[in-house]
Amino acid sequence: MAEKESSERILNTYRDEIRTKSRKSYSIWQKNRTVMPAGVGSLFRLADPFPMVIKRAKGARVWDADDNEYLDCMLGFSTMILGNAPDEVEAAIREALPRGTHYGQCHEHEYAFAKLFCDMVPGVDKVTFCNSGTEATMYALRLARATTGRPLIAKFEGGYHGTHDLLAVSFGRPRPGPDLSGPVEDPATVPESPGLAEGAWKDTIVLPFNHPASFDKIQRHADRLAGVIIEPVQGAAGTIPASKEFLSELRRITHEIGALLIFDEVITGFRMAPGGAQEFFGVIPDVSTYGKVAGGGLPFGAIGGTSEAMHLMEYDVDLEHSILMAGTFNGNPLTVAAGTAVLHRLSNDQQLHTQMDAMGERFRNEINLFAREENFPAIATGVGSMFSVHAVHGPVNSVRDLRAGNRVVSTGLGLLYRKNGLHITPSHGFMSAAHTDEDITRLIEIYKNAMEELRAQGMW
Ligand SMILES: Cc1ncc(COP(=O)(O)O)c(C=O)c1O
Repeated sequence: MAEKESSERILNTYRDEIRTKSRKSYSIWQKNRTVMPAGVGSLFRLADPFPMVIKRAKGARVWDADDNEYLDCMLGFSTMILGNAPDEVEAAIREALPRGTHYGQCHEHEYAFAKLFCDMVPGVDKVTFCNSGTEATMYALRLARATTGRPLIAKFEGGYHGTHDLLAVSFGRPRPGPDLSGPVEDPATVPESPGLAEGAWKDTIVLPFNHPASFDKIQRHADRLAGVIIEPVQGAAGTIPASKEFLSELRRITHEIGALLIFDEVITGFRMAPGGAQEFFGVIPDVSTYGKVAGGGLPFGAIGGTSEAMHLMEYDVDLEHSILMAGTFNGNPLTVAAGTAVLHRLSNDQQLHTQMDAMGERFRNEINLFAREENFPAIATGVGSMFSVHAVHGPVNSVRDLRAGNRVVSTGLGLLYRKNGLHITPSHGFMSAAHTDEDITRLIEIYKNAMEELRAQGMW
């Protein structure tokens, strides 16, 4: 008890230091609270001790409203792969702006954007645009159900695919109240919010990530299963890659039972490789969903797939069986301009991925070596430019492996990162083309110092 109180006292000193250095940010958030619920536009902006309030962002840096500078490894939840406000994206938006910000109609610039998807991604013959990753995964499921005429969708425990009622289940986070998550081999479908339509999520079954019991469960539901959706690297769950073998078997079995395999590449798309996770792993899904990186920093989502899988969006061919897919802002000209600029750069500059991946590799190696040598129960996970550090011994193959994590330590680490000038989410971090080797040296130092500080305080 005394130990808990003393840890809480130390955490509170970190919180006080953050409040002291960010007084203006705090007051802006307080003001926002008077007119916005919780003062935030998204639940995931809530942070300890209060949300970051950003004033500007450039390259690998962001500045808060108090002009404190942070090394940015959040990058708009992974979006800003070229760094913040890249010159070529700004130029593309400026060039497009005088032609109008919105038409709600086709325009000639969609071709180059869509063609980049088709040229870069092995499993995309055709692609269509929407406005968020949430929308993209919703449409992907509709496509799977309409194509197969079957009712069920399978997702993985820990997978995050947005907020709609079909998939807002079983994120795998620790939750208040009784543990409803079920056995490891057969996770339960646990709604993540009150107010979800039961009819929507009851048809979603949940599979254990990286676990062979998934394949048994798929077989048990084979004749009712429309599709399986997976993040090839789980992001919000803590940057946990699927194994290549697991994805290959998933491909084999979904093909065998006639269900669509959907890769949610909202984070991995164009980041893991120019062709995303499917290029990286050499496993080609029927349908892929996109957002983040591909929108160049403006609101965006996309659904792509093989010509066969996308057939039910060919309205001129088969209107009777086609799915409803529509949106006022789909293909917005500014988003298309920004996204095209980013994909163009990624497709032309092979060095970018090599460079970002090497930085991620270096970070993971140095942190894991340090944790081993200094006897910290900590592990850096991830692949390529995606990383996370967890307060567990590891290995980490699924979100369940994080349950043994030391909560106080995780809270302390998060506070120390922010206090010491790192902007990052609690579950995932990212490198961008704007990060330098010096930035990674600094990043590693921030992590090591935070670990040492908690130990010096007797908390770890
Ligand atoms: C893998 C994945 N899919 C879907 C989404 C939802 O995207 P959006 O927030 O644009 O709706 C996210 C968002 O973080 C994501 O990480």
